[in-house]
Amino acid sequence: MDERIVTNREIDEDRDLNIRPESLDDYIGQKEIKENLRVFIKSALMRGDSLDHILLYGPPGLGKTTLAYIIANELGSNIKTANGPSIEKAGDLAAILSTLEEGDVLFIDEIHRIPRYVEEVLYPAMEDFYLDIIVGTEGSSRNIKINLPKFTLVGATTRAGDLSSPLRDRFGIISKLNYYTDDELYQIVKRTSRVLNTPITDDAARVLAKRSRGTPRIANRLFKRVRDFALVNGDGIINEEVLDSSLEKLKVDKIGLDETDYNLLNAIIERFNGGPVGLEALASSIGEESSTIEDVYEPYLLQQGYLKRTPRGRMVTDKTYEYLGIEK
Ligand SMILES: Nc1ncnc2c1ncn2[C@@H]1O[C@H](COP(=O)(O)OP(=O)(O)OP(=O)(O)O)[C@@H](O)[C@H]1O
Ligand SMILES: [Mg+2]
Repeated sequence: MDERIVTNREIDEDRDLNIRPESLDDYIGQKEIKENLRVFIKSALMRGDSLDHILLYGPPGLGKTTLAYIIANELGSNIKTANGPSIEKAGDLAAILSTLEEGDVLFIDEIHRIPRYVEEVLYPAMEDFYLDIIVGTEGSSRNIKINLPKFTLVGATTRAGDLSSPLRDRFGIISKLNYYTDDELYQIVKRTSRVLNTPITDDAARVLAKRSRGTPRIANRLFKRVRDFALVNGDGIINEEVLDSSLEKLKVDKIGLDETDYNLLNAIIERFNGGPVGLEALASSIGEESSTIEDVYEPYLLQQGYLKRTPRGRMVTDKTYEYLGIEK
């Protein structure tokens, strides 16, 4: 289990639905995606037709699920949800598809985890809105076609590269969510402060934004923990002093790195002379799964330039040595 306060994975306490924006206007950042979606949604409504299928991809916690719900809201449609890993058989998918009504949004999270042979059921459903299923037992089986109402599939994935190309090609709109800027995170923190009725000074909000790893989920989580310190040890207002002392207790440094990041970077420096080191070797050296390193630990370090991917493996950079105060 991932216990890091700065993990970008969802943990129980993140499920505070009030904080989740419900309209495009309320959704901060991702300007390009938002502008495009506004046009596509409006056009679909004007044409009285369903919106094209949409694939949202990007690191955890950047707002894919949130956006899927917003799309349904803006369309005035119902949303039905499913999860890639729980769709194991063609029948599972057929059961979900057969509950759809005209204009519904079907949100499939972790869509890259649908097995390939099940995926094939999706192709005609997405393209021509019918289900092609085999009924009966071996020897007396036959194919039947069932028409489906027009719906919009919104797929989300943290790994667009794991999606098969036939599936990817059936999405009319493919959008990549990017890490948020400090300024956008500042606005998200201020919004969360309003929603949770907990004041934060502008200075403190700026600092918190910087320590949130470009990720709204982390900004909101840190906000809630710092609020606890402000309530118990202070007057309930989050100022820079409360923020600094609580993040120190939570072991989150001034750019949002924690012990896991330090372990990873130090391992490359001390045990592999700064790299390059292969992902597998690195994983076993710090006792982690390589997929956890890839999905959770390294994206932010890569984005910030503390880690580099080369054909021969991962390397730290001059910036890393400088930041950690280690001589090369
Ligand atoms: N643009 C935004 N503006 C304001 N808050 C946001 C925004 N995007 C995300 N959030 C907040 O961050 C939280 C995490 O977002 P969300 O659950 O949509 O991420 P995700 O991309 O689906 O993550 P995962 O890959 O783990 O499923 C949401 O609960 C919401 O409160
Ligand atoms: Mg999600």
